[in-house]
Amino acid sequence: MYRSHTCGELRIEQTGAQVTLAGWVQRTRKLGGMTFVDLRDRYGITQLAFDEAVNKDLSDRAQKLGREFVVQVVGTVAERSSKNAKIPTGDIEIVVSDLIILNAAETPPFTIEDNTDGGDDLRMKYRYLDLRRNAVRKNMELRNRLCFEARNYLIAQDFIETETPVLIRSSPEGARDFVVPSRMNPGEFYALPQSPQQFKQLLMVAGFDRYFQIVKCFRDEDLRADRQPEFTQIDCEMSFVEQDDVLELFEGMVKTVFKNIKGVEFDQPFPRMPYAEAMEFYGSDKPDIRFGMRFVDITKEVQTKDFVVFNSAEYVGAILAEGCAGYTRKELDGLTDFVKRPQIGAKGMVYVKYEADGTLKSSVDKFYTPDDLKAWADKLGAKPGDLILILSGDKPKTLKALGELRLEMGMRLGLRDKNVYAPLWVVDFPLLEWDEEAQRFSAMHHPFTSPKPEHVEWVKTQTNLKDVCANAYDIVINGVELGGGSIRIHDKDLQAAMFKCLGFTPEKAEYQFGFLMNAFKFGAPPHGGIAFGLDRFVSMLAGLDSIRDCIAFPKNNSGRDVMSDAPSIIDDEQLKELNLVVKLEK
Ligand code: AMO
Repeated sequence: MYRSHTCGELRIEQTGAQVTLAGWVQRTRKLGGMTFVDLRDRYGITQLAFDEAVNKDLSDRAQKLGREFVVQVVGTVAERSSKNAKIPTGDIEIVVSDLIILNAAETPPFTIEDNTDGGDDLRMKYRYLDLRRNAVRKNMELRNRLCFEARNYLIAQDFIETETPVLIRSSPEGARDFVVPSRMNPGEFYALPQSPQQFKQLLMVAGFDRYFQIVKCFRDEDLRADRQPEFTQIDCEMSFVEQDDVLELFEGMVKTVFKNIKGVEFDQPFPRMPYAEAMEFYGSDKPDIRFGMRFVDITKEVQTKDFVVFNSAEYVGAILAEGCAGYTRKELDGLTDFVKRPQIGAKGMVYVKYEADGTLKSSVDKFYTPDDLKAWADKLGAKPGDLILILSGDKPKTLKALGELRLEMGMRLGLRDKNVYAPLWVVDFPLLEWDEEAQRFSAMHHPFTSPKPEHVEWVKTQTNLKDVCANAYDIVINGVELGGGSIRIHDKDLQAAMFKCLGFTPEKAEYQFGFLMNAFKFGAPPHGGIAFGLDRFVSMLAGLDSIRDCIAFPKNNSGRDVMSDAPSIIDDEQLKELNLVVKLEK
């Protein structure tokens, strides 16, 4: 028996008990004739005590224990003279009578503490040591809890967890595929699934009715704080449902998760916001509605004088920063620099200060009278002490830039509290978006998403394509797209029309998606579903800034696993077996 108790288990009530513990040496310290060792495992830390006066040899051996040695001790639980209220085992210590070193350890490259001295790269290289740290392990425990809660909820609702293949046929779904060469089929490749989308639809054709899977997905796309090349979805599909059925059931899942894990209860239904409204008033399809600051269109109001910047703009929009009239020149310049960053792309920013004494000052005083400014302020509902920030230009770009400015102001004003959760459904997405580069439409969600019934005819006849609305929805919390889904096309003719809208010839559609189209000939039920990003969901619950921190072995921003050093080249023998020759294009 390696241990009778864990390192987080013993309390004052067990005083006098003979116990055996095993774990890692967190730290050793000597105080006079006493040596104390903190022994750590997943469950906590227990103090071990060695008294030189009682057993000199044992005490000497304890002093020599290095950090992260794996040891086993036998001893008696005793009340501590100086108690540590900060840890649950802080009232007791183990008076050790026997010590066995199970495994010595080299000094770790960083401290295994909550506030470690290890930088990001080092922690990723030695991720197994990083995972020993409380802060990281807690995220993994939370991940486990979320999977448990989601499974529980879904299984109680008759969902069947079903695995789908990882080696699949390459098919365009949005991002680039990762591909895997097939040894047995020279010159041919599998792809790793970007999601199990087509398989879950086939399970509906198979009559499974309700499917879910906590599943790895793979996408070869540029990485960001909320994107990994391999990530996990809680992937779900249901038959004989309409959009409302799906939203209701999964709103229930989100509510259950928040209640059971965070103790947060949402007593109102989640608001539903059409995509067009989200774009018009928040400049984003994932608005953070923890705070207001909606955009106000003042294009008409400002195009009355000789200010060419505004006059030549397609759109002039403003946000109201309450109580910010006191912003200094430097702060305003800082905001201007912020919106001018290349990734935001505004050309400049105009401000109007509604001073506490009721006067109005702006960066465009040369062109506008105080009455003009007052009219704008009234439209925004501004009051003395407030600041108005204005951007102008091409409409889509300006909306996006204003969205970034809004988020920045929300952060500066402390309106984006991590402990406040503001969920919503964004609905009524466009079915298609125009791809300027390829000069054709592409699917906004994916090619299997159904148009709204009233727009089916447009898809079939290829008219008004940019106005076709989809039965698609995203769940957004605090500005993060946590999940997305849609009602699917279940009719083979409509699916064929959709492929045509996307520029596929019938032959190409048949080649890429023939198996799905074929299945639709055999009685496909109406169906729809959703997939949640598990990693994003955990990081939201844990208040993390990056999803990396809730993934046991994540990739870095270049898609590398720095611990195992993947990807790597493979040797000639392996290439030969795969019938491959590598020729790198510069
Ligand atoms: P979608 O592509 O919107 O939909 O993905 C669903 C959710 O998965 C998460 N996600 C990611 N998380 C981390 N890293 C990534 N690279 C990444 N990409 C996506 C997001 C997103 O909301 N098959 C459809 C779902 C459906 O229609 O049912 C799909 O995959 O949280």
